[in-house]
Amino acid sequence: MQTHEIRERFTRHFVEAGHADVPSASLILEDPDLLFVNAGMVPFKPYFLGEQNPPYPNGTATSIQKCVRTLDIEEVGVTTRHNTFFQMAGNFSFGQYFKEGAITHAWQLLTGPQEDGGYGLDPERLWVTVYLDDDEAAEIWEKKIGVPAERIQRLGMADNYWSMGVPGPCGPCSEIYYDRGPEHGREGGPEADDTRYLEIWNLVFMEKERGAGTGKDSFEILGDLPKKNIDTGMGVERVACLLQGVDNVYETDLLRPVIDVAEQITGARYEGDGQDAIRFRVIADHSRTGMMLILDGVTPSNEGRGYILRRLLRRIIRSARLLGATGETLERFMNTIMDTMTPSYPEIAQNRDRIVRTAVAEERAFLKTLESGTHRFDEAADRIKSAGVTTFSGEDAFTLHDTYGFPIDLTLEMAAEAGLDVDVAGFEAAMSEQRARAKADNQAKKHGHADVSVYREWVDDNPTEFVGFSELTADAKVLGLVIDGQSVTHATEGDEVEVILDVSPLYAESGGQTADRGRLVADGTILEVNDVQKIGKKLWVHKATVTAGGIDLGQAVRAEVDPDWRHGARQAHTGTHLIHAALRQVLGPTAVQAGSLNRPGYLRFDFNYTDQLTPEQLTEITTIANQAVDADFAVNTIETTLDEAKKMGAMALFGENYGTDVRVVEIGGPFSIELCGGTHTEHTSQIGPVAVLGESSVGSGARRIEAYSGMDSFRYYSKEAALASGLAASLKAPTEELPERVSQLTEKLRAAEKEIAALRRQQLASRTGELLAQAQQVGEITVLTHRLPDGVSGGDLRTIATDLRGRLAGKAGVVVLASADGDKLPFIVGATKEAVDLGVKSGDLVKVLSGHVNGRGGGKPDMAQGSGSDAAGLDAGFAAVRDELARR
Ligand code: ALA
Repeated sequence: MQTHEIRERFTRHFVEAGHADVPSASLILEDPDLLFVNAGMVPFKPYFLGEQNPPYPNGTATSIQKCVRTLDIEEVGVTTRHNTFFQMAGNFSFGQYFKEGAITHAWQLLTGPQEDGGYGLDPERLWVTVYLDDDEAAEIWEKKIGVPAERIQRLGMADNYWSMGVPGPCGPCSEIYYDRGPEHGREGGPEADDTRYLEIWNLVFMEKERGAGTGKDSFEILGDLPKKNIDTGMGVERVACLLQGVDNVYETDLLRPVIDVAEQITGARYEGDGQDAIRFRVIADHSRTGMMLILDGVTPSNEGRGYILRRLLRRIIRSARLLGATGETLERFMNTIMDTMTPSYPEIAQNRDRIVRTAVAEERAFLKTLESGTHRFDEAADRIKSAGVTTFSGEDAFTLHDTYGFPIDLTLEMAAEAGLDVDVAGFEAAMSEQRARAKADNQAKKHGHADVSVYREWVDDNPTEFVGFSELTADAKVLGLVIDGQSVTHATEGDEVEVILDVSPLYAESGGQTADRGRLVADGTILEVNDVQKIGKKLWVHKATVTAGGIDLGQAVRAEVDPDWRHGARQAHTGTHLIHAALRQVLGPTAVQAGSLNRPGYLRFDFNYTDQLTPEQLTEITTIANQAVDADFAVNTIETTLDEAKKMGAMALFGENYGTDVRVVEIGGPFSIELCGGTHTEHTSQIGPVAVLGESSVGSGARRIEAYSGMDSFRYYSKEAALASGLAASLKAPTEELPERVSQLTEKLRAAEKEIAALRRQQLASRTGELLAQAQQVGEITVLTHRLPDGVSGGDLRTIATDLRGRLAGKAGVVVLASADGDKLPFIVGATKEAVDLGVKSGDLVKVLSGHVNGRGGGKPDMAQGSGSDAAGLDAGFAAVRDELARR
């Protein structure tokens, strides 16, 4: 049975049982705790927690959610069942059916005959686990379903108690396993062997809320959720593996074609379970995950999601090379996986070019990296060998990893080829230091995320009515007051308080638009609102300072938006839509929005695009945006359904979890149509001029345009004009000649600097005779040790040392020079041929000197260079060099 068919049967089974069919959310949701969506329940979290009511007629839903888990990346291809991307098919009940319903549904689908729409699995081969004390579930399995008691095992919290790994909903679970037969491992059920007994479905009885803690079993249970819910997850690829009779999840109909292409490209054969087989599986698994991540808007970078993508792509490239590939490979892998995945994800079709372009750009960059990293590796290996050592230091291996993206196994292999060991422990230490730093950063980020449980009582019962699209003031009632996370009944002058109102005209931050500023006023009372945030998309929390009087729960207030602020915010937000539309006209539809921000007077727009924009493209974008202002287009907002909006051609943002009812903002007919919940001007001319400041890179593959709107644009342009005329006056040239004039000046300056440097070298050279007079005789060798005036660069040191060494030619001579340059102390040792013949090695002398000036360095016997940081040790260092030469 093809994977696509497995998906369809799942959906049909649950839709027929009254579940709403919910499309997969993007892999990227705005959840500070999650890098990627990693379980089917993630988009439903607010319904489990009771923060929102589920919008499904029967209170039940089904979905096939795209998931990415990269924690077990090293396991890919080693075990038979680890995919970094997988499809989790789930059914969800929000306070409707519970254990018995979930168990019955799952059993019927798994064991139902194939001709009736089931999967037709042999019931005799199914095993189940339940949580230790969950007698209720065990009894349903045994009495209702008829699973013999010996095939029901009870496991502890680590196995059979499910949570997201962070505070949130949780509960005991029951897992269903399939016995693949004795050739796959030991007898004894899932408890004994989880390779032979393959977990295919997890039924979570979501009834509790967990607190902070770590691991799978050390967290506090805070209490009951408002309702008893069901969350299940069936691994689509694992079921496919069983129904297609293949050995592992990398050989199913969706991934196997990539392995076949990899065989063609590399010339290697996929067989057995050795290192090579693992590499083929890594290629197949990672190609799919990489493709799906790019599809959802991730671009390779050095941190967060982008880093995971980069790591996956690099592992593919590296695996292919180890299998024998020599050129670029990603384009073919991406094309193959897109072919197999498109039937289930038709949106791939419109994104093929972008996906290939992103992957190939990364591959080219990495291949270059590989080249420069190899160069750097060779240098380090030479240095190590010439120092007579055989171990590649952990620090060097870490630099290769961190700066050049070299995986440690690459370094290990290259070192082995060069006859060197690698200090793996040292490398690990450097890595764990880096990880500790990253973790500390994350921790710091998380603490910024407030505990929202205090708002729960208002979210469902009293969602805020937002009237700010048409009104700037509203009479409201104070429903809640929160100070420092505690619900209170009163706040007085000087307090920072969060105010919940029944009605509000103030815009809460969302969709890139910053929150409105404004005031809450009553007789003798004024609160200045500094921020407005949404909780659970429904509750407006006004963060305010009481500047006069006091405020009580239940009191009537007048909520007022600062009209100037709102005017500016509308200009910037509508301006952002113009820039977005102009950008797509100029760059084409592949420039996908990656984020935006707008606040009064300023806007910024991020988009996925690999190339830097040319000045001409920027001018064109600015012109189109301002022409749209000049055309005075009407700005219309339309409330409609998501399906209708898509039919209208509205652009939706990745990462947004839109409800079924959406708001479309349309400007000038086809000029711009976007899904958007922001506040806008009524006509484009109200925006005023849009002044583009420039564009820049924000991580690889994404770029940012920044612009001013309204009076800020005007101020910007007048400042620029004033600056230009000021410059023109001081350079005594008309403004249009300024660029020419400045480039002439720079040219002149550069020439002058060159001349100064040349003069300086001449001056030093003229002193070489004088310097040589200071040389001392150490045995048969003439030795000159000298500290030159400060500020002589390493390059100049080399010139002078070469000159001095030339003057000593014909006899055994050694020249040692140093010069302090800021906190650095470059130094050099040169030896004449005669000295080298006597056995002098400049590299060794550099080491001797290094020991006294906290330095390092090396080189050849006739010339070696180094750099230190402790000039105070220089005299002792010079003496040590002379001693060393005397000892020979
Ligand atoms: N949420 C459950 C899981 O991810 C079904 O296993």
